[in-house]
Amino acid sequence: MTDKEIKISYKEYSSPDEMSKEDRELVLAAIDAMKGSYAPYSHFNVGAAVRLSNGTVVKGANQENAAFPSGLCAERTAMFHAGASYPDKAMVSIAIAGGVMGRLAKAPATPCGACRQVMAQYQAKSGKPMSVIMAGDGIIWKFDKVDDVLPLIFDSI
Ligand code: THU
Repeated sequence: MTDKEIKISYKEYSSPDEMSKEDRELVLAAIDAMKGSYAPYSHFNVGAAVRLSNGTVVKGANQENAAFPSGLCAERTAMFHAGASYPDKAMVSIAIAGGVMGRLAKAPATPCGACRQVMAQYQAKSGKPMSVIMAGDGIIWKFDKVDDVLPLIFDSI
């Protein structure tokens, strides 16, 4: 038996102003995308923004439904839009922001497991790392690749 360890490194910022221009814009786009949230049940508004390899930014927001599983998270709304509309462009980065009643929460918005799996799929599709940025009010985390937020990615089929 051997003890193994998985090490994850990420960057923490206290403001979008500390980030590169591209990342700052993506965070602001994710915060802006919260406006498109339709969350009559949870009242938790999530926005996401995907940057494509050609510089295009595609936004998404969570869309809820009375039949709960029929709704969709912000991240997948954005990624599926990007995948369907720009099938030949790599998704190089995704930023996520969330909060109650449209107000950005203090804690960074952490994506659910299903959204991480979808990120992994599009990262594998492009063959290049997709960075993941989780934004909160006064604290932002940046992970350089999906593997850092979904260790031991399932990609065996
Ligand atoms: N939600 C997202 O949009 N993204 C996530 O990664 C986690 C959760 C949404 C789904 C639902 O509309 C609301 O937040 C509460 O779970």
